[in-house]
Amino acid sequence: MLFKQQAWLRQKLLVLGSLAVGSLLYLVARVGSLDRLQPICPIEGRFGARNQADFPLRALQFKRGLLHEFRKGNASKEQIRLHDLVQQLPKAIIIGVRKGGTRALLEMLNLHPAVVKASQEIHFFDNDENYAKGIEWYRKKMPFSYPQQITIEKSPAYFITEEVPERIYKMNSSIKLLIIVREPTTRAISDYTQVLEGKERKNKTYYKFEKLAIDPNTCEVNTKYKAVRTSIYTKHLERWLKYFPIEQFHIVDGDRLITEPLPELQLVEKFLNLPPRISQYNLYFNATRGFYCLRFNIIFNKCLAGSKGRIHPEVDPSVITKLRKFFHPFNQKFYQITGRTLNWP
Ligand code: A3P
Repeated sequence: MLFKQQAWLRQKLLVLGSLAVGSLLYLVARVGSLDRLQPICPIEGRFGARNQADFPLRALQFKRGLLHEFRKGNASKEQIRLHDLVQQLPKAIIIGVRKGGTRALLEMLNLHPAVVKASQEIHFFDNDENYAKGIEWYRKKMPFSYPQQITIEKSPAYFITEEVPERIYKMNSSIKLLIIVREPTTRAISDYTQVLEGKERKNKTYYKFEKLAIDPNTCEVNTKYKAVRTSIYTKHLERWLKYFPIEQFHIVDGDRLITEPLPELQLVEKFLNLPPRISQYNLYFNATRGFYCLRFNIIFNKCLAGSKGRIHPEVDPSVITKLRKFFHPFNQKFYQITGRTLNWP
């Protein structure tokens, strides 16, 4: 008899235990906003109104899981219509600078529930062939989003390509422009490192950085070397200022984005008129990578690809000094124009 009672009790405890675990998992799924894992399903029932403009940001965060599915191409035309999804032209563009941290900035901004990123570099404004395909082609390259979200794309070549400011101006003269910069010499070395890696992958030899950055005839900085020219930020910015007032630009400190990303992201949120939603919870330092990584929720987190954060080759200190001296006056002008002083050497 006693044995029977014990078995019955054990069974009851097992059922209760399973129920508790099940409820806990359900709660975690709801509270933790497992946005990337939400199935595609009608949402009207949950959110009531279909007027998208009324949706609070919390709801948007929840709905991002759906967007993720749409982005993967899992959406039918019916689902897109049902959820009022649109492909919007970007309201903000990260125009550069190459190796400034453009990918990190885009991915980190994408943590914000009101931001949707275009994953690929579209190269619409800097590539004549793409540009000739027209603005509708560009729009169709944009991810699906809810109307009250903003789309952001990044193509770092925009910053240095002559035709781009006028072309972007023609699309939207009030667009917001983000420029992420790093200390110019470090950026030039990072640029070189990327090219060097490409050559090595093809089993090709390449010049040393010193040989490219310094003209062997004059022993002066070689301004014909693209990695040097790209780092003369003020020269490029001046071309942009022929079309856009300085208020439409926001300068992101790429060196600080590496070491202390949150305050930089908060400045961008302010510039984009977004309510502050990115928090320290969304960013955690990964000691193995040596960089901050992204946490979307308790389940989904990611670090940038290994091609971001390469080890730079050692460069002759006298060449570094020469380059820093060369960039100094351009940097001063850049601070003066932008109103952001970056304390570069
Ligand atoms: P290095 O490879 O020289 O370290 P871009 O995306 O514009 O190509 O910029 C690449 C740079 O982003 C990298 O340059 C790296 O330093 C920087 N970066 C900034 N934040 C990062 C992060 N959280 N993870 C990886 N790289 C990051």
